[in-house]
Amino acid sequence: SGYWVIVPAAGAGRRMGADRPKQYLPLLGRPILSLTLRNILTWPGVAGVVVAISPTDSDFEHLPESRDSRVQQVHGGAERADSVLAALNFLASKVAPDTQVLVHDAARPCVAVEDIEALLAAEASSALLAKPASDTVKLARVGNEDVTSVKKTLDRSRIWLAQTPQRAPLGELHRALREALERGDPVTDEASALEFAGKSPQLVKGRSDNFKVTHPEDIPLAEAVLRLRFA
Ligand code: C5P
Repeated sequence: SGYWVIVPAAGAGRRMGADRPKQYLPLLGRPILSLTLRNILTWPGVAGVVVAISPTDSDFEHLPESRDSRVQQVHGGAERADSVLAALNFLASKVAPDTQVLVHDAARPCVAVEDIEALLAAEASSALLAKPASDTVKLARVGNEDVTSVKKTLDRSRIWLAQTPQRAPLGELHRALREALERGDPVTDEASALEFAGKSPQLVKGRSDNFKVTHPEDIPLAEAVLRLRFA
């Protein structure tokens, strides 16, 4: 019994502009992935963790958490979704299809245990932590360019920003993700794969300090949150 956690940690983290993948950048002197795994291993009811690492990764084996008997590793793929699928393939050979799986980004070390409890308690078969938008949201004319302009303003009252963990039964998520990738659907998180399969995952209100460490300016913010939470 208990649920499994999948941690995609096979990314290059180019937006950080650092000399190593961002999951290995130090926060308070410890690699982000180490902090994230240490956090996950305290969640109530966690049965095991599958970490997807890059085939060229030479850092993971040096983390103390990699030697925890509950932690398994697989090789990730080219995109985040490929890394998650590799972990799901591994889990499918190990546990029953109705086992609950939580997928959590390596780069979100600050998630609070209260949010995990809320996600586990959500009634729907699949659910994700998400944050109602606090800023007004603009749809741009062209995507993520340095110079662009507003196409229109979206209805903020219905905008939620997806976080992780995202939870679903193993069999359901495995099938949805495999089929979405086979079709070439744009899968950017687990919920989107479930949506392409016709499901409507429940949105569970999370906290803004569960941000994804992405840009250099996120590092001192994450350190401040970690100091408060785990000191
Ligand atoms: O790059 P981004 O911030 O979207 O990555 C989110 C998470 O997915 C990170 O923890 C990253 O390591 C992981 N990832 C992965 N395999 C990839 C790309 C990203 O596991 N090919």
